[in-house]
Amino acid sequence: MKTAVLSLVAAAALSVPSTYASVVSSRDSKITPITVKGNAFFKGNERFYIRGLDYQPGGSSKVEDPIAEPDTCKRDIEYFKELGLNTIRIYTVDNSKNHDECMKALADAGIYLVLDVNTPKYSINRAEPEISYNDVYLQNVFATVEMFAKYDNTLAFFSGNEVINDGETSNTAPYVKAVTRDVRQFIRSRGLRKVPVGYSAADIDTNRLEMAQYMNCGPDDERSDFFAFNDYSWCDPSSFTTSGWDQKVKNFTGYGLPLFLSEYGCNTNKRGFGEVKALYSEKMTPVYSGGLVYEYTQEPSNYGLVDLGGDKPKKLDDFDTLKKAFAGTKNPSGDGGYNSTGGANPCPKKNAPNWDVDDDALPAIPEPAKKYMKDGPGKGPGLSGKGSQNAGTKSSGTATPGSGSVTATSSSSQGAAAGLRIETSIAPMVCAMLVVISTMFGASFIFMLQM
Ligand SMILES: *[C@@H]1O[C@H](CO)[C@@H](O)[C@H](O)[C@H]1NC(C)=O
Ligand SMILES: *[C@@H]1O[C@H](CO)[C@@H](O)[C@H](O)[C@H]1NC(C)=O
Repeated sequence: MKTAVLSLVAAAALSVPSTYASVVSSRDSKITPITVKGNAFFKGNERFYIRGLDYQPGGSSKVEDPIAEPDTCKRDIEYFKELGLNTIRIYTVDNSKNHDECMKALADAGIYLVLDVNTPKYSINRAEPEISYNDVYLQNVFATVEMFAKYDNTLAFFSGNEVINDGETSNTAPYVKAVTRDVRQFIRSRGLRKVPVGYSAADIDTNRLEMAQYMNCGPDDERSDFFAFNDYSWCDPSSFTTSGWDQKVKNFTGYGLPLFLSEYGCNTNKRGFGEVKALYSEKMTPVYSGGLVYEYTQEPSNYGLVDLGGDKPKKLDDFDTLKKAFAGTKNPSGDGGYNSTGGANPCPKKNAPNWDVDDDALPAIPEPAKKYMKDGPGKGPGLSGKGSQNAGTKSSGTATPGSGSVTATSSSSQGAAAGLRIETSIAPMVCAMLVVISTMFGASFIFMLQM
């Protein structure tokens, strides 16, 4: 769904955790953080499927942070529990506000958060990507990432949402990928928990597969941790084949990252949520890890499950339909047939106008943003900040491949979570160890290593 007038994206570069200890001690939830192995998410040793809902009270036109207000979030969490959700997605947060109470309440309810790190004023502008990718923008993104990585129930960050919305705007892809690289590097440099980072693509057929491949090609430090796209092609009454979902499974088979639907729930006809059964069946789980239904509140676009018009949320028909669909749909037993190998694919070939990207060259991080990697981003400007799209300093050129890797600065404070730089002489041995480690824990483990 069009979340805002402008498209959104995320952030940054180099160093060593100074806040790690305090971050750890501020966790008091019992929820297990989600990790990536091969092309799937895991909760400990158990496969994790997103049973989620997009949570955007006020709709895409009203910019609002729904988890800055404990009374409201606690009210809504009761409805999330009744639906049987384990995940919500939020499109905008105010990084000048405190989120401890809502995040704790969500964790207590067993609910994870998928968070867009952009806001309408701090985002990549698809009309002017090179100007909007600047240090002021990255500071805001990093402030959000640093704030939310400390919560064990932050499942994932979206580095961008629907930035590319047709063939022509595919030339924005290098900026989306640069932001993804920067956020992942920021997380490693600051020693934060490795919350998975990826992009949420619009529901467009012309370059969906290319974008997915692009976000998973090139050096490991430039690749994403997962890929997500919006999909409104299952319009009830429909089926696995009528919707074309069978073809999407086929086309994404062999893709090396976890994949999920960041929005679904076509409302052309009355919704029966027949797609829920398909999404969590073994026909799809080898390739997909669930998805997020659009959306919690009734807005002019008419996708809501509840009406917030009165004193308290009023359940609409779709609420009960979805609740029944979730309740009647178990996850597959075992690991759902996931692919434990995972890994990179070749970059897609330029095919203008649908895919207008030459190669895997990315813009280097804007110079003044590098300091945030080391010193931290400081306080976020929040939703009342001035905005970043014409601010700050832009990138001065193309990054060299691998430049997003974390450089070891001082060995003493180099936490295990920070990136490693391996001396060439010991590389073969470390590589052998890595094979063992990655066999045991999945390929996501090696993303952080620069060889
Ligand atoms: C699957 O891939 C084929 C070949 O690239 C393409 O023609 C088709 O449109 C794709 N189908 C879907 C549903 O993405
Ligand atoms: C598993 O993933 C790897 C790496 O992406 C790929 O080469 C392989 O074909 C996949 N296997 C299956 C059965 O999809």
